Formats: sequence, C-alpha cells, structure tokens
Amino acid sequence: MSHLGKKALIIGATGLVGRELLTELLRDEQYDAVYAIVRRPITFSHPKLREVVSDFERLEEITEAYAVEDVFCCLGTTIKKARTREAMYRIDVTYPLTVAKLAKEQGAHHFLVISSAGADAKSKIWYSKMKGELEQQLKSIGYKALSILQPSLLLGEREEHRLMEKISGNVVRGLFQGIKKPVPAQLGIKAGVVAQAMLAIAAENPEGTITYGAKAIHSLGSQR
Ligand SMILES: NC(=O)c1ccc[n+]([C@@H]2O[C@H](COP(=O)([O-])OP(=O)(O)OC[C@H]3O[C@@H](n4cnc5c(N)ncnc54)[C@H](OP(=O)(O)O)[C@@H]3O)[C@@H](O)[C@H]2O)c1
Repeated sequence: MSHLGKKALIIGATGLVGRELLTELLRDEQYDAVYAIVRRPITFSHPKLREVVSDFERLEEITEAYAVEDVFCCLGTTIKKARTREAMYRIDVTYPLTVAKLAKEQGAHHFLVISSAGADAKSKIWYSKMKGELEQQLKSIGYKALSILQPSLLLGEREEHRLMEKISGNVVRGLFQGIKKPVPAQLGIKAGVVAQAMLAIAAENPEGTITYGAKAIHSLGSQR
C-alpha cells in the first residue's frame, strides 16, 4: 500500500548506497519532502530536497529534519578512515541511534538501516559485533517498523579508493563472468539494488522488526 505525501529523512546520503537512494527518494511519488542530514553539501539541488549540513556531534541541535514518517540510514565508515574503533563505533552506531531516537520522538514510525551480513552482538569479530549491537539497540527504541538490511559486499564505483573491497569485488565479478552466471547475492550486491530494496520495503509499510538477508535484498531490489 502506498501513501502519498510522506516525508523521509536520510543519513549517509553522500555514500555509495546513500547517493543512489537519495536520487530514488526524490523521484518517488510517495514522498513530498526528503530531508538529508549531511556533513558536506550535496552537489545538486531538487525541489523536494531539504538539505541540513551539520557536524554529526551536534545532531540534537537540528530542529527541522526529524518530523518524518520514514528514516533511512546508510551511514557508516571503515576502520581505515575512522582510525580508531571508538571513532568508528560513534559513526556506525552512536550517530544512527541518536537520529533514530530523535526521529522517534518526533513521530517517525519506520526506521530502515543498512547493517551487514554476519551482524551479531555476540560475535567475536569486532565489526560483526558492532553491527549486531546497532541492531540490538535499535530494536529497543520501539519503532512501529524496523527494517534491517544485511547485505554482503557492496559493489559499485566509489569516489574513494578501497583496495580490499575493490579486489574482492573484482575477484567475485571475474569468477562469475567467467562461468557466465550472475554474482550470487551472498557474495556481492550492487549498491543500487540495496537502495531499490530499501524503497520497496518502505512502500510496503511493514510492521515490527524484519531482517532482510542478501538474497531477500536482491530479490526486492531487482523487482523495481
Ligand atoms: N562496503 C561494504 O561492502 C559493506 C558491506 C555490508 C554493509 N555495509 C554497510 O553499508 C552501509 C553503507 O555503506 P556504503 O559503502 O554505502 O557507505 P559509504 O560509501 O562509506 O558512505 C558512508 C556515508 O556515511 C557518511 N559518514 C561517514 N563518516 C561520517 C561522519 N563522521 N559524519 C557524518 N557522516 C559520515 C559519509 O559521508 P561523507 O560522504 O561526508 O564521507 C557517507 O555519506 C554502511 O553502514 C556499511 O557499514 C558495507
């Protein structure tokens, strides 16, 4: 069921998935306004785009972006960029949780977040544990709908150089091109497909917490 006249908020709108998702949100007739909280300006304007440039340490000071129905979280970083686990945790966990709480207080009912395959709060792998803790803490906020996407390796052209991701992506793509088969979603998934899956989920207006693994994301994102 689709509702016209909804408002959306996106964080991480300048990233690999976020860029694609923002473009699609602006095209989507469900939404008449799309707020994007960013730390650096977006390079285009659009009549539906409400850009809020802010330091993410000051999310509480933003007043105009949280009164929306749907919140899309594509925020995240790498340990190489963040440099310390503490800094990475703030970006991947603390900021999304802060936005989730502020938007919930303003009446948001659906929070959609990109977590990761293997996310598990009890994992011995620090990254998987961090993503698992994000999921766990989001569940405790009490959204009417919480949609957790757990993609595998994200495929797409990045502005920045990420050697390991590039090598993994090329190996996966090369292998499956060689045998003339599509890359299985569990090994790699196009950022645009993840963005399309988020939109498809939002359009369904689900209730409760639903976790979407790589295969489900691929199936939802490829149908649109
Ligand atoms: N890479 C993978 O293969 C993979 C696999 C599974 C799950 N994931 C997860 O999927 C999500 C999306 O990944 P992605 O590759 O699309 O992300 P990305 O390209 O790295 O983009 C991350 C976004 O977060 C923003 N951001 C980072 N640090 C920030 C900070 N200190 N303050 C404010 N904004 C900040 C970036 O803003 P700027 O543009 O200003 O830097 C950008 O908009 C992430 O949560 C990631 O962990 C990734």
